[in-house]
Amino acid sequence: MGEYKIRPYIMTDISEITTFEHDVIIVGAGGAGLRAAIESCHQGLSTGVVCKSLLGKAHTVMAEGGMAAAMGNVDARDNWKIHFRDTMRGGKFLNNWRMAERHAKEAPDRVRELEEWGAVFDRTLSGLISQRNFGGHRYPRLAHVGDRTGLELIRTLQDYAIHQGMKCYMECTALDLLKDGERVSGLVGYFRETGRFVIFKAKAVVFATGGAGKAWQVTSNSWEYTGDGYGMAYEAGADLMDMEFTQFHPTGMVWPPSVRGILVTEGVRGDGGILLNNKGERFMFGYIPPKFAAETADTVEEANRWLAGDKSARRPPELLTRDVVARAINAEVKGGRGSPHGGVFLDIASRVPADVIKKKLPSMYHQFKELAELDITKEPMEVGPTCHYFMGGIRVDPDSQMSTIPGLFACGECSGGMHGANRLGGNSLSDLIVFGRLAGLGAKEYVRSLKNSPRINESQVFSIIKRATSILNREKGTNPYLVHEDLQKVMQDNVGIMRQEEEMKKALIELERIKESVSQVKAEGTSQYNAAWHKALDLRNLLISAEAVTRGALMRQESRGGHARLDYEGERDEWLAYNVVSRKGSDGKMVVEKIKRPEPPEELKKIAYAKIEDLEIGKI
Ligand code: FUM
Repeated sequence: MGEYKIRPYIMTDISEITTFEHDVIIVGAGGAGLRAAIESCHQGLSTGVVCKSLLGKAHTVMAEGGMAAAMGNVDARDNWKIHFRDTMRGGKFLNNWRMAERHAKEAPDRVRELEEWGAVFDRTLSGLISQRNFGGHRYPRLAHVGDRTGLELIRTLQDYAIHQGMKCYMECTALDLLKDGERVSGLVGYFRETGRFVIFKAKAVVFATGGAGKAWQVTSNSWEYTGDGYGMAYEAGADLMDMEFTQFHPTGMVWPPSVRGILVTEGVRGDGGILLNNKGERFMFGYIPPKFAAETADTVEEANRWLAGDKSARRPPELLTRDVVARAINAEVKGGRGSPHGGVFLDIASRVPADVIKKKLPSMYHQFKELAELDITKEPMEVGPTCHYFMGGIRVDPDSQMSTIPGLFACGECSGGMHGANRLGGNSLSDLIVFGRLAGLGAKEYVRSLKNSPRINESQVFSIIKRATSILNREKGTNPYLVHEDLQKVMQDNVGIMRQEEEMKKALIELERIKESVSQVKAEGTSQYNAAWHKALDLRNLLISAEAVTRGALMRQESRGGHARLDYEGERDEWLAYNVVSRKGSDGKMVVEKIKRPEPPEELKKIAYAKIEDLEIGKI
């Protein structure tokens, strides 16, 4: 009997491929994608959502502690101006001013609208939506549902979107965009179960694909977060921006190894948890940046008064912004003052009664019980930084959310600008619903402006399919799992919380080597549910994301927010600039260009740099 050979997959006729046609195709079914879909349906457009996973499974659920919106339900002094000021200060003034303004002004309406659509928020004693404290927010501002806010947001949006007529294509991975001339005409994807290719023909495409946390070893992100939007947009010629700003959330689980990186919500600190080193010291008092000194308690006694509700007391240092807290934990561990498994201790047990912990933080209680056999009402947790979020992303217009490619929109984590150099906790959920809506509206305006429908270019379809099938068809090649591990190690070791030139240059050399491996990657078997093939297909986008982060980080010779350099400490005025990443030249090399951040209008500048008292009494 002769040797059995798998027939190579050769596509010859485009009519063999199923084509779905919509006015708008949205890629990603997290909070931003679903909110964009709702808006697109409301505007009377035929709307399809392509999601890599099952509907309801999105990184949105990892924003556990709440969504930030200046509703003033718990402290009436709060207003959009103070939220805007906090966001700009948190983002180290690199935020796109217009986006930060729209976000702060529109978030309360978006939260109320969610409630109308069925979200069940925790309440204050007087029956208003309850709001909790979070890092960098001046007042209790996070509307929440225990520590499961992201989950409730997704549940509400998906139920509502389905009823508005959204068509959902689940377990379908987008491979690449199709273009008619300069403008978008749809995309090619494949269904993960059957391996069948599919064409989505569309007048507008919205990317809501999240970030690329899977390029690091320790991350709160799950398997879907491989930078698909960044990779596809970049390959199609769109600009990315400020990719070097990666957020390491200060508190991920560190033990046992199988769960390392899983998120421990900032809500634990918002509700009174404190950070301790192995000497039992509340070390954050030693890491208060001078710029935040006026607003941060510098004694345990004052921090405790704040927790007890004394409005004249300043906020505890555990609630400084994430970049500051993550670096402090890193320094404690490096200084030999860490916990047994390479983190620090997060203690809420000795400060908050057990029944309150269970009521306010039920998921954390179960997470530690089930995954670490630890009772957080009795013992401190071990926590350490975990790669959580990309502040940078696809460069978009702040009002329409359109990228630099006509007809391609982006919203949520995969778009850049809103959060500047560092995102405040809780600003992501509100970002999703504010900018998801704007992307839906932007797509509507664009679709209505079209004189004719874009056409599908067959040769583009074939070349996308060929790239994918060559992974199955080559005789031998590299193992996609090993290539992914290699990439994660390079990024973890060389482009982590603290960066320096030598290591980043080394990372770039290593990434070139990995690029070669990716071009030779081989998955055994056929295209039907083939996990190795899926992994191999993700690698290109992960690699583009990793290279963009590294090149941007090497070029930015300063430390600002989520980008911290040992060789260039502190912010530098000349770097109040964006790093724009694009694919240029005949060789298609990645280029990073520094462009000056546009100056804000005077009114907004005044608010961002105002004294807090002036905003509270309405003087500004
Ligand atoms: O800590 C958290 O609950 C995460 C929130 C966020 O990333 O916004």
